[in-house]
Amino acid sequence: MDSIQFLNNLAETKAKYNLGAGVPPLELYPQLFPDELMTLFVKETGADLMPYHRTEGILGEFARTTILLNENIRVEENQVVLTNGVQEAIFLTLQLFKGNKVACLDPYYPGFVDAARIVGCELEIIKEENFLLGLNSLKKGDLFYISADNSNPSGKTLTQQERETLVEIASERGFFLFDDSTYREFNLESKLPTLFSINPKCVIHALSFSKILAPGLRTAFLYLPEALRKSLLKLKSSVSLNNSGFTQGIVGGWLLKNEFILSNHLGIIKNRLRENQKVLVKFGVEYSGGFFILFKPKNQFYNMKLCNSLLLNQGISTCPLSLFSPHENGHLRLCIANINEQQLQKVLDIIINFDYHEY
Ligand SMILES: Cc1ncc(COP(=O)(O)O)c(C=O)c1O
Repeated sequence: MDSIQFLNNLAETKAKYNLGAGVPPLELYPQLFPDELMTLFVKETGADLMPYHRTEGILGEFARTTILLNENIRVEENQVVLTNGVQEAIFLTLQLFKGNKVACLDPYYPGFVDAARIVGCELEIIKEENFLLGLNSLKKGDLFYISADNSNPSGKTLTQQERETLVEIASERGFFLFDDSTYREFNLESKLPTLFSINPKCVIHALSFSKILAPGLRTAFLYLPEALRKSLLKLKSSVSLNNSGFTQGIVGGWLLKNEFILSNHLGIIKNRLRENQKVLVKFGVEYSGGFFILFKPKNQFYNMKLCNSLLLNQGISTCPLSLFSPHENGHLRLCIANINEQQLQKVLDIIINFDYHEY
């Protein structure tokens, strides 16, 4: 089973404490009423949700308003495409860059690496530490995938300086950046500028609704240079034709209802993340938002076997970092969004003291 399938299975596990999968704790979000949202969208736009639609999606204008109101970025009609989640956007983008090198950080998001291998791309995995120095091998026409905000799996957020330097290197050398902004709205500090706002000519900015609203909507807005858009649409038209009219209707209705603001409804979940941040400080873990942390107790080396034992004996589901890296280094990736602060304190105490020889 590949790592994404493994993680999808974890999302459905009934473990007492699920720190394995990066699923949004939807019970902390206001309830979605799909019928009501679709009805609102149809009433406001006159759209018919039933037929096939244009490949770029029927929410293009909504996507432009969304990035304008949330990021203060003005984009043109020919810079937007709707995809079935960011994962489809990654897959289509990799097809476009098949003849070039594609790269990402170590540790990596397996949805990128697995897809790059399936597509048959030449793939380079660059150590996250001092990664800017590792970009030397990228040339004109190559692609570098990154999450500038609260990345999966390491939780890293780029500093202002790293953002500027990264975009400068990419535009000087002529390679493209794919910024996966899936966790950007879960930042607990003030947001830094997107890579796209620094230079939209070399950045693809991917905004997923999976963590903001629900993964089942399979909806993402992709903002990209016009030069790439045409070929991406050609690919998408042979892969998924278009996003479902129904899910577009739900997302469109939700945007209308929420005046296009992506994070006003996330207060409860962000409060939980803030409370969890206080617990993490006690354990010496730096955390500024998003769903993930890397954790390594002293004298413990967590691998798949130990994670399995932790699950069977303590009901705690976790992932060894080896799922996200070519190197095993004993760390765990923990999703801290699904449990509250008391549970987090308890789970981290158990993880630190866990001795599988006892079982
Ligand atoms: C970094 C990252 N990108 C993309 C995705 C998938 O996003 P979508 O549901 O929009 O395809 C995930 C899902 O966990 C993720 O963690």
